[in-house]
Amino acid sequence: MKKFTDYTFQMNTEIVFGIGAEKKVAGLVQKYGGGKVMFVYGGDSIKNIGLYDTVTGALDEASIPFVELGGVLPNPRRSFVEKGLELAVFEKVDFLLAAGGGSPIDTAKTIGAGLAHGGDYWQFYKGAEPRATIPVGAIPTIAAAGSEASCGSVIVDDMETGRKCSFAHNLIRPVFALMNPELTYTVPPYQTGAGATDIFAHVCSRYFIDADCYLGDLYCESTMRAVVKYAPVAYVSPSDYEARAELMLAGAFAHNDLLNLGRYTKNRGGEHGLEKQLSGFYDTAHGAGLAVVMPAWLQYIVNNGSEAQAARVARLGIKVFDAPDTADLVNAANEGIRRFRAWLKSIGMPLTLKELGVPDTDIDGLAIRSLGGKDGVLQGFMPLDFKAVREIFSYSAS
Ligand SMILES: [Fe+2]
Repeated sequence: MKKFTDYTFQMNTEIVFGIGAEKKVAGLVQKYGGGKVMFVYGGDSIKNIGLYDTVTGALDEASIPFVELGGVLPNPRRSFVEKGLELAVFEKVDFLLAAGGGSPIDTAKTIGAGLAHGGDYWQFYKGAEPRATIPVGAIPTIAAAGSEASCGSVIVDDMETGRKCSFAHNLIRPVFALMNPELTYTVPPYQTGAGATDIFAHVCSRYFIDADCYLGDLYCESTMRAVVKYAPVAYVSPSDYEARAELMLAGAFAHNDLLNLGRYTKNRGGEHGLEKQLSGFYDTAHGAGLAVVMPAWLQYIVNNGSEAQAARVARLGIKVFDAPDTADLVNAANEGIRRFRAWLKSIGMPLTLKELGVPDTDIDGLAIRSLGGKDGVLQGFMPLDFKAVREIFSYSAS
C-alpha cells in the first residue's frame, strides 16, 4: 500500500511580510473587492501598538467605509458571532478585516460564512460545507494559531453545549495576511510561550500520522526546530526582530497545509482534541493547555503504542531535541519527552493540570467532555477511548 497520500493544495492567502506591512491594508481591501468593511478586533492591545490608528486612518484616507466590531474575547464565543453577524447584515458589510490573534480572525471567518448563507453559520460547525463566503483579510499580532493563512476556525459554543467547536474549509482562508513581526513585540512572555507551543502542536498534528512523505517529515522537523530555537529568544527578548519573524513565519506555515502534502490522513495528531475542552471549559490559554497535554500524550504513545508509533516519538526526540540516537527507541523517546518538557518550562509554560488551574479531581469529567460522552473515541495517530484519555490526563496530574 502506498503511504504517500494524494493531495489538493490551494493556498489562496496573499501574504505580505515585513516592517510596515499593515500600511498596505487599504489597497488590499480594494484589490479583493471590499466596499464596506467590518473591522474585527479584541481589546485595547491593537490601540496600544498603534495598529488601530494605522488601519482606520488608511481606510479613511482611501474613502473605504467601515464599521467596528471590537471586544472579541480569547476563546471566541458563538454569542459574539451572532452579535457581529446582526451588525454586519444591518450595515451591509461585504468584507471582514480582522486584527489580533486567532480569535478575531476566527470570528471574522465565521461571520463571513454566515453572511453568505443567510445567517446560518452554525451548520458548518455541524459538518455542512459552505458554498461561498464573504472575504476576510487578516493582520495578526501574535505568532500562534496561524489562522491568518489557515482554512480553519474555532468557536466556543456558549449558547448550547459549552463545547469548543471547529470547522475547516478552503473557502474561509483569508484572502490576505499582512504580517509585520514588529506588531508582536508587545506580546507578553506567557502569551509568547503559549503561541509558540500552539505552533509546535500544529506541526505535531502533521508529524504524528500513519502516512509517509520524506520531504514532509523534513518540513515538519525544520519548522519545529525553528520554534524550539526562537521561542526562548522571543520569551526573554521581546523586541528581537529575527526571533519574532521566525515565529511568525513558522506560525503561518505550520497551519496553512503546506506540511500536509503527501501525508494527510484522518489518523493524525490527537493533541488538539485532548486540549480543546480544557481551554473551552476553563477558559485557559490554548497553548498552555497544549503544553500540559502534549508530553503526556507522547508518553502514552510510548507506553501503549506499537513499536512504529514509539519510534516516531523517538524520532521527534532525536531530530528536534537532539536526543542521543541510540539503539534503544524507548530511551530516545523518553529523553526526547524530557527535553520537550524542559523547553516548555523555559518558555514559561505549565506542565501540570494544577499549574494550569484545573483540579486533578476534574479528570473524569474532562475526559468525558473531550470525547463528547463516555463511549466516544478521539481519532488521531492513536485512537483514544475514555480509559486512554483518562490515563493521559492522569500523567498531567500534579
Ligand atoms: Fe492550535
